[in-house]
Amino acid sequence: MLAAYLPGNSSVETRTVPVPSPGHGEVLIEVKASTICGSDIRCIYHEHLGKGPEGYQGVIAGHEPAGLVVEAGPGCRRFKAGDRVLVYHISGCGVCNDCRRGFMISCTSTEYRRAYGWQRDGGMAQFMLAEEKDLIALPEPLTYADGAQVACGFGTVYEGLEKIGISGNDAVLITGLGPVGLAAGALCRKLGAQRIIGIDIARERMDLAMKLGLCDDVLTSGPDNVAQVRELTGGHGVERSVDCSANAEARATAIRATRKWGKIALIGEGGTLSFNPSPDIIHDQKTIYGSWVTSTWRMEELVERLVRWQLHPETIITHRFPLEQAKEAYALMASGRCGKVAVCPGE
Ligand SMILES: NC(=O)c1ccc[n+]([C@@H]2O[C@H](COP(=O)([O-])OP(=O)(O)OC[C@H]3O[C@@H](n4cnc5c(N)ncnc54)[C@H](O)[C@@H]3O)[C@@H](O)[C@H]2O)c1
Ligand SMILES: [Zn+2]
Ligand SMILES: [Zn+2]
Repeated sequence: MLAAYLPGNSSVETRTVPVPSPGHGEVLIEVKASTICGSDIRCIYHEHLGKGPEGYQGVIAGHEPAGLVVEAGPGCRRFKAGDRVLVYHISGCGVCNDCRRGFMISCTSTEYRRAYGWQRDGGMAQFMLAEEKDLIALPEPLTYADGAQVACGFGTVYEGLEKIGISGNDAVLITGLGPVGLAAGALCRKLGAQRIIGIDIARERMDLAMKLGLCDDVLTSGPDNVAQVRELTGGHGVERSVDCSANAEARATAIRATRKWGKIALIGEGGTLSFNPSPDIIHDQKTIYGSWVTSTWRMEELVERLVRWQLHPETIITHRFPLEQAKEAYALMASGRCGKVAVCPGE
């Protein structure tokens, strides 16, 4: 089978490797869609910068896969050949406290925690192995490209939004309109947010957010953003904000443009943040939440709700490539001149 690797010099290497065969408790998946994440670019593609859970160990890339189970190994209890699935992208030990909460992302076992596309083979291949316990069933109205997006981006955003709570009471600010920020816009709409304001530096992404109806207003990132957001919200600021940029200034804007008693979720990873605790959060009774991926059970709930809301995450995919063109796919995602980028083996 064909498989893509990231050697770390802003290039992609495709190799022909044997199709693996599932061991105990594992399934073999025919990959149908595998999307590229900002984290792949930030930690792996240009240079292998990631450490610990973000350390790339030269495996088949791709941590956002969805596909069809073609073979179940011995000992599988629920999934079988013919099942449509997406893969929760971190395989944990299953028995530490974090795993028992469903947060395999923060599994504490150094021996058994391995993320797909980071420390174990991922989805940028025609086939992949996954542990049955990492699978989320993908119901029929959702496409494989929808499923791939849930595996990381939409799942992550849903978790962050559930932590801060979004309703029709809220105006929401999203800093960073990459695929994660666009997912935040799409989910905030369905959760009933009353007004959604987005900030980015890339014109393409601001235009896409408006074109897809995911933001009501978009602002170019800059020093006037806090005043601009206040002006758009009757002088108060937003009730909720979500940083999906990882940029220090944009994070500070997210905090300062949030009104009294408001809540802020930090999702963008890496970098730094500086703010003045007393005026920026303490005196205004504000709360900042950090949010890392999600749990398996919340991912299952999200899939169920996407069906109910008739929300197809694939609407934020602007470019699809066959596996043979994985190189072009990563280069495009790295340029930022796109929405979400998907690699769809067999298409
Ligand atoms: N917390 C988690 O569990 C988790 C999970 C997945 C991804 N992430 C992180 O979320 C972030 C977003 O992911 P993505 O795939 O959308 O990546 P991305 O790099 O495509 O998106 C980041 C966006 O922020 C914008 N940006 C940069 N500087 C800005 C500024 N000063 N003001 C406003 N916007 C600015 C960029 O133009 C870009 O559109 C990344 O940092 C990624 O690592 C976190
Ligand atoms: Zn990701
Ligand atoms: Zn664990």
